[in-house]
Amino acid sequence: MKVLVVGSGGREHALVWKLAQSPKVSQVFCAPGNAGIASLATCVAIGVNDFASLAEFAQKEQVDLTVIGPEDPLLGGIVDYFEERGLAVFGPAKEAALLEGSKTFAKDIMKKYEIPTGAYRSFTAHNEALAYVREQGAPIVIKADGLAAGKGVTVAHALSEAEEALAAMMLDGVFAEAGSTVVVEEYLAGEEMTILSFVDGETVIPMVPSQDHKPVYDGDKGPNTGGMGTYSPVPHIDESIVRQAIDTIIVPTAKAMVAEGRPFRGILYTGLIMTQEGPKVIEYNARFGDPETQVILPRLQSDLVDIFLAAVEGRLAGCKVEWKNNAAVCVIMAAGGYPGPYTKGEEITGLPENTEELIVFHAGTAETNGRIVTNGGRVLGVTALGKDLYEAQDKAYEAARSISFEGAHYRKDIGNKALRQAEDRGRA
Ligand code: AMP
Ligand code: GLY
Repeated sequence: MKVLVVGSGGREHALVWKLAQSPKVSQVFCAPGNAGIASLATCVAIGVNDFASLAEFAQKEQVDLTVIGPEDPLLGGIVDYFEERGLAVFGPAKEAALLEGSKTFAKDIMKKYEIPTGAYRSFTAHNEALAYVREQGAPIVIKADGLAAGKGVTVAHALSEAEEALAAMMLDGVFAEAGSTVVVEEYLAGEEMTILSFVDGETVIPMVPSQDHKPVYDGDKGPNTGGMGTYSPVPHIDESIVRQAIDTIIVPTAKAMVAEGRPFRGILYTGLIMTQEGPKVIEYNARFGDPETQVILPRLQSDLVDIFLAAVEGRLAGCKVEWKNNAAVCVIMAAGGYPGPYTKGEEITGLPENTEELIVFHAGTAETNGRIVTNGGRVLGVTALGKDLYEAQDKAYEAARSISFEGAHYRKDIGNKALRQAEDRGRA
């Protein structure tokens, strides 16, 4: 089989890495890819939103399956475009991807189908939003309605922060159209967890849980990013709570989308907070998480191509998905300045050889004159596997310390939440 992966980040590197291991896959293409992906796949210089060129390439090369990584093309309708041309493609149709594309749409679905989430209201007029926020008080959460690369959320602990966020989104247009509608949401306290699921209409196969680290600095300080690191499993969140999340959130969401006439076929990303009242949704995405994918796929025992094909052909119900009993930690190394404006083109040195237990997924890299250079805000996802999180964390940080580029920064505490809880339990 020939497979085409669309995208150029760490998530796509992880997808290519896993797909290339399948005995059924003879060739992997990636559009546009990056310097790390180029060691496993044939990179083709086509942008993720150039549907016509991507479909033409898939036809010409007789690609058997195309897998879409990022949200932009999904929301633009790339899956519909490929299907209209008889091309097999994995991902949700445009009208299902709206679960990610519009927070107001997602909130309305949750309300209608009684899926647990924070109380909210959505606004297009700044003065009305401001009045509501002042009435509610802090802590409160302000979210741009549309896509904002993971940066459209302000968790305001003081009223002044909430007011500044509203002004930035609704008066100064920092997220352009994506911020013209704003969702104001109840602050939810509790541990966070991500569950990605393979979904094919009503059939849901949840993957192993993971936890992301959104703020840029240690101890969850500083502005939010696309994600600074992940780990899996999440041992301090009880299996029964995971089950509750599947039964009260994930399965009902898939059913809701079928009932709405927008069946979801692809990866459903549920970002959850474990509140006193049980798990609640803070975010849906219509794709694999980045960097969640970098710790999930290395733990997947089954052949990913089999699962994708089953989903595309509507037979996920008969598909068995198996996981390894290990642990994974991914530490994101970011460019100087990220998540603000950052530099590109810095040479990266000290990259270790990838092994079965240490994989440096490239997120934003390019090759110029035989040198690997930085080419994005999130540059590398240093991922290690171990028998437990302690071992995986040690290995990931040992590798991260050996890698350097001008301005590089990374969090030093990825995985600590789980390890601290394990130690507390040990002492108890
Ligand atoms: P999102 O982009 O929606 O995942 O939000 C980014 C981060 O903001 C999340 O990972 C949470 O840490 C935080 N967040 C979002 N919504 C809420 C909420 N209602 N209550 C508390 N924290 C939230
Ligand atoms: N890591 C968060 C996301 O992929 O949206």
